Amino acid sequence: MTNTNFTPRVFSGVKPSGGLTLGNYLGAIKRFVGMQGQMETVYCVVDMHAITVWQDPKELSNMTREVAAGYLAAGLDPTRSILFNQSQVSAHAELGWIFNCVARVGWMNRMTQFKDKAGSNAEKQSLGLYAYPALMAADILLYHATHVPVGDDQKQHVELTRDIAAKFNHDFGRDFFPLTEPVIEGPAMRIMNLRDGTKKMSKSGESDMERINMTDDADKIAKKFKKAKTDPEPLPETVDGLKDRPEARNLVDIYAALNDVTPEAVIAEYPGAGWGKFKPALADLAVEKLAPMSAEMSRFMDDPAEIDRILADGAAKARAIADPILRDTYDIVGMLRS
Ligand code: TYM
Repeated sequence: MTNTNFTPRVFSGVKPSGGLTLGNYLGAIKRFVGMQGQMETVYCVVDMHAITVWQDPKELSNMTREVAAGYLAAGLDPTRSILFNQSQVSAHAELGWIFNCVARVGWMNRMTQFKDKAGSNAEKQSLGLYAYPALMAADILLYHATHVPVGDDQKQHVELTRDIAAKFNHDFGRDFFPLTEPVIEGPAMRIMNLRDGTKKMSKSGESDMERINMTDDADKIAKKFKKAKTDPEPLPETVDGLKDRPEARNLVDIYAALNDVTPEAVIAEYPGAGWGKFKPALADLAVEKLAPMSAEMSRFMDDPAEIDRILADGAAKARAIADPILRDTYDIVGMLRS
């Protein structure tokens, strides 16, 4: 079974649960923009995923618009990509249910993100948080997407998507869903916490100092990089010297991703540099790249009606692809349409 029967198409999404971080930007959104024009691109604000943990209803609508504003400010163009929020296309929930009946409990039990999030409190989590990777598979396969750009933390979920597609195709004897490729490349696959280089930078971390938010102003960005944890050694002469130095590695990776160069090129530019030199250079670069985007985001947020219009328009385009694929799925499964 190959993907050559399928038109190349990108799908990806971001959850509107808390503000966008530099991890979301470098690991996902910036790369979404880079894929525009290479093939058809469909980008979603996955609000149905956000409610797997409690969300204040007003805040959820607001955050949905904010993620959309982040997409637009970063350079996603609604005339070149389909931009919409998940709950406006009901086929996601419908295919999600079919996949709940394809995925096996044993597969779900292996999902490390659920284990990390639920911790010792698994019994108290929503059933949705546990089942969420099947909904994510539905998001992707509803568009017969062949490529999914994500950060490293989502790799296991895209692999599960392939398992679900393969089992569906096998069970029903049809080559209907593609085996989607995760696209995980470049230096920003796993941007780490600024206070602990062994933990992922995330929107839900305890302290604001451990992450850069896409809405941070220049002063905040500079302060956070200045206070970022490092070891006492200067930068090495070659990238091999970053081994076992997670905080140093992270700051070099961030610099590389912001500047569209490799970590090798960053080290070649700053061989042996001390933090007193590298941190201000990184802060300047981050401000140069992020401040205009944050200003653009607030400009979009000042006009919520325009964001809503873009999302409604995108949802109509998304439905035009998704609805026929859902109808075919129902036919394959044997759901009676009278
Ligand atoms: P979410 O909302 O947690 O994150 C959105 C995207 O940002 C990436 N990301 C990072 N990349 C590098 N370093 C980091 N520190 C970092 N933090 C976040 C994530 O890998 C992701 O690509 N389940 C998904 C959303 C989703 C989805 C989908 C993605 C739902 N359906 C279908 C792709 C296709 C999630 O919770 O991402």
